[in-house]
Amino acid sequence: MQPTAVNAILAEVRALQAQGHQLVSLMRGEPDFPTPPHIVEAAARSAAVGRTGYPDNRGEKILREAVAQKLQRDNGLRYNPETEILVTTGATFGIYAALMALINEGDEVLLPDPVYDAYQSPIRLAGGRVRPVPSSIINGRFVLTAEALESSWSPAVKMLVLNTPWNPVGTVATEAELLAIADFCERRNVLLLTDEIYEAITYAGHRHLSPLAVNEALRDRAVLVNSLSKTYSMTGWRIGYCAGPADVIQAMYLILAQSSRGPATFIQDAAALALTGPQVCVSEMVAEYSRRRALVLDRLPEAMAPDGGFFSMLDLRHWSLPSNEVRRKLMQEHGVVTVHGSAYGPGGEGTLRVSFASGGKNLETGLERLSAGLRQIREAHA
Ligand SMILES: Cc1ncc(COP(=O)(O)O)c(C=O)c1O
Repeated sequence: MQPTAVNAILAEVRALQAQGHQLVSLMRGEPDFPTPPHIVEAAARSAAVGRTGYPDNRGEKILREAVAQKLQRDNGLRYNPETEILVTTGATFGIYAALMALINEGDEVLLPDPVYDAYQSPIRLAGGRVRPVPSSIINGRFVLTAEALESSWSPAVKMLVLNTPWNPVGTVATEAELLAIADFCERRNVLLLTDEIYEAITYAGHRHLSPLAVNEALRDRAVLVNSLSKTYSMTGWRIGYCAGPADVIQAMYLILAQSSRGPATFIQDAAALALTGPQVCVSEMVAEYSRRRALVLDRLPEAMAPDGGFFSMLDLRHWSLPSNEVRRKLMQEHGVVTVHGSAYGPGGEGTLRVSFASGGKNLETGLERLSAGLRQIREAHA
């Protein structure tokens, strides 16, 4: 098991702050918006009327039904709220429960490289082994090609983990890309864990598609994981959900019932309202992310334009310095915190992840420091 990159960097940040450094962070994937008031009020109302007892461990009926409604409305997917949906403590617990339910000792799990770095430890905890699938950068986008999937495959591969929109690289998989992935899963009898947590945050005509919507046949071999953390700025509420075949959801439910036992009842009530209530709060947040994305692209010529999510990768591949060294210099000498691309796998080497989940003065100052810092480091090492 390993701490996530963000947690490891946070420890460095605290040490520098203790020495008096004033740091600006463009590191975390944590929206800076308050949770929309109608959702907060729903939680308070629910707690006030006594919805404070143990929840149904599968998820409260009202929330499972809201999830089913949302999956049909936004993703064109039909899932039975009685048997095919599980409410979890964030996407994190959904990922954990799916891996625990499906991965046995010695199974291999295909993981895009680079990718969000909190899949690896639970894969190992489940007894699995990570098999990276190298990504390619084609026309300024990180992509997973059918050839890369095929050459990473081995007979021990049980599952592919897919994240679209893709953290950290910002790619939103197209229909053609998803069809190729679905075809690979079918042909090689590989299960699919599809993490769609950034689905609502897309730009410039890109739109999230669930792989399950492009190929119906995937339904029997896929678990969809999602949460309200990013879409509704609810990271601290720890509320998410999964959809999948009834037998897999049952296995995940048994794991949940022996561990987290699900999110608080009144939080589930508020989440149900978030999913089924007015969605204008989401489009307002996405419009603001879109402005921040434009600012990042305007200020940093090295920034790659993300299709979705709230990260941009700075392309420093032509530099001779390792990305972790550039990150350290930026933090120690220029007071701005980013994440080195290599934290997400060797395929991320030569890039830096910049988050625009926080905006306003923080983003303005962070970009000024980044721009000046990158210029100085480049000149010193030219
Ligand atoms: C790709 C991805 N999946 C899952 C998570 C965890 O989400 P949650 O807050 O719902 O546990 C994150 C958080 O940063 C993420 O980036």
